[in-house]
Amino acid sequence: MEQEKLAPSGPDLAQGVASTDLVDGKLVGHVGDEEVLLVRSGSRLFAIGAHCTHYHGPLGDGLIVGDSVRCPWHHACFDLLAGEALRAPALSPVDCWKVEECDGRIFVKEKLVQTPRRPAMPTDAPRRIVIVGGGAAGFATAEMLRRRGFGGSLVMLSDDAAPPVDRPNLSKDYLAGTAPVDWVPLRPDDFYASNGIELRLNCEVAGIDTKARELILARGERVLYDRLLLATGAEPVRLSIPGADQPHVHTLRSLADCRAIIDSTKGARRALVIGASFIGLEVAASLRTRDIKVDVVAPEARPMERVLGPQLGDFVRGLHEEHGVVFHLEDTVAAIDGKRATLKSGRTLEADLVVVGIGVRPRLRLAEQAGLKLDRGIAVDGYLETSAPGVYAAGDIARWPDRHSGENIRVEHWVVAERQGQAAACNMLGLKERFDAVPFFWSQHYDVPINYVGHAERWDDIAVNGDIRAKDCLLQYRRNGKVLAVASIFRDLESLEAELVMERAVQT
Ligand SMILES: Cc1cc2nc3c(=O)[nH]c(=O)nc-3n(C[C@H](O)[C@H](O)[C@H](O)COP(=O)(O)OP(=O)(O)OC[C@H]3O[C@@H](n4cnc5c(N)ncnc54)[C@H](O)[C@@H]3O)c2cc1C
Ligand code: FES
Repeated sequence: MEQEKLAPSGPDLAQGVASTDLVDGKLVGHVGDEEVLLVRSGSRLFAIGAHCTHYHGPLGDGLIVGDSVRCPWHHACFDLLAGEALRAPALSPVDCWKVEECDGRIFVKEKLVQTPRRPAMPTDAPRRIVIVGGGAAGFATAEMLRRRGFGGSLVMLSDDAAPPVDRPNLSKDYLAGTAPVDWVPLRPDDFYASNGIELRLNCEVAGIDTKARELILARGERVLYDRLLLATGAEPVRLSIPGADQPHVHTLRSLADCRAIIDSTKGARRALVIGASFIGLEVAASLRTRDIKVDVVAPEARPMERVLGPQLGDFVRGLHEEHGVVFHLEDTVAAIDGKRATLKSGRTLEADLVVVGIGVRPRLRLAEQAGLKLDRGIAVDGYLETSAPGVYAAGDIARWPDRHSGENIRVEHWVVAERQGQAAACNMLGLKERFDAVPFFWSQHYDVPINYVGHAERWDDIAVNGDIRAKDCLLQYRRNGKVLAVASIFRDLESLEAELVMERAVQT
């Protein structure tokens, strides 16, 4: 999408500003035509690019924590000193500038040359690392291995036809037709070869021999590893009703799935979404953007109540109804006959296309076959290592000991998968990095983002701060007096602060 080039805002930082111009230790200005964020943290001054490298979030509205700044939109974190993207979902660094202070005025000088942190490799660092999965966790692992200076062989095997993509976009802007195709790949095609990553697509791994430390590919070939990451993600649950196997009935996981849905929208007037989950309702919003009438059928009484509670559930329903979505709740689809779907209640709905979003199942077949310890997912330790030494797991398949909730949890969140991939990369190199990130996810419906930090499968009560209908709220999910999770709409700074409080609670 062509973005209009706007004149950079704020004062010219190269000309200098008074120290007192910094509000709460921050000031956004410009150097030439680049927007720069000037930060005072303690006695130190930093100047870095003012926009997050994930989706261009305004870092000036973010949270400064020590020598880092956290993005208000999806909680990426950047090192103020070197610009490195310390935490996903941002993966690329922001630029940094030299800063000088003289007689109460601050001047931003030339750009600095950035070098990512490269810890010394342990002497027993592996030579061959293999990643199974070309999704969030797999990609983040490969990227971090090279960033940390791993120089050995790095092979990434994916049974998908597409290189790693920005999967969350597939139910949002790309599906809505408001994002160009070049937003979708996580990196350009030449990234892999130029970083020495052997990316093999359409390549299904059929088995693992953990004793011989080798993988067996579906084509019969064997691939040796010293360290292995399993990041096989999840697959959509399929409907088992008559008519579910017709070409206009879709699920959504891959870029190919998304393209098939987009093809089905051509000339379509009505769509049926089965399931009022995050994916189902994001799809509904995207199809409304394409001016297609949408019916949603789901068994629950309120959308998203199980995860977000009744208050946000009612809000989400109302938001979609304002945009013309028609809900058929406490009902299910019994059969799809061509363009006519019959519900259990007897009602019939016409639909040119159907999207089924009724949940996903972790892809555990390889782990089961290899005899890895399972616990409704692959059981990993705090360092993401499975029961087989040298074999790690990350992303939607991994159940890890979460110190925040005190439980072993498995979640299906993009940022968690990426951060686990990053931690697994360090651990495969012997750098011993415990995975302690507070779980985070976001969901987008029309122009309303919902951010969620923490993890609450059950709660005693929900404290609502602000006004949900006014889209200005923060909800705390509490059990035994402890805040387990916080959901918010347009309370980005408070969401970041809540994340920090949860982080510090386990550090003490
Ligand atoms: C449309 C959509 C929108 C989403 N939006 C959001 C959002 O807004 N926010 C959020 O937090 N989360 C969102 N999610 C969830 C998020 O995308 C997942 O949690 C995340 O992708 C999990 O990463 P992963 O690496 O575990 O798995 P995946 O990204 O699914 O990657 C798994 C990879 O493993 C490969 N694979 C599997 N088995 C094999 C095998 N045997 N051999 C070879 N390759 C194999 C697959 O082809 C794939 O490349 C969304 C998901 C979808 C589908
Ligand atoms: S825009 Fe900054 S984390 Fe997404």
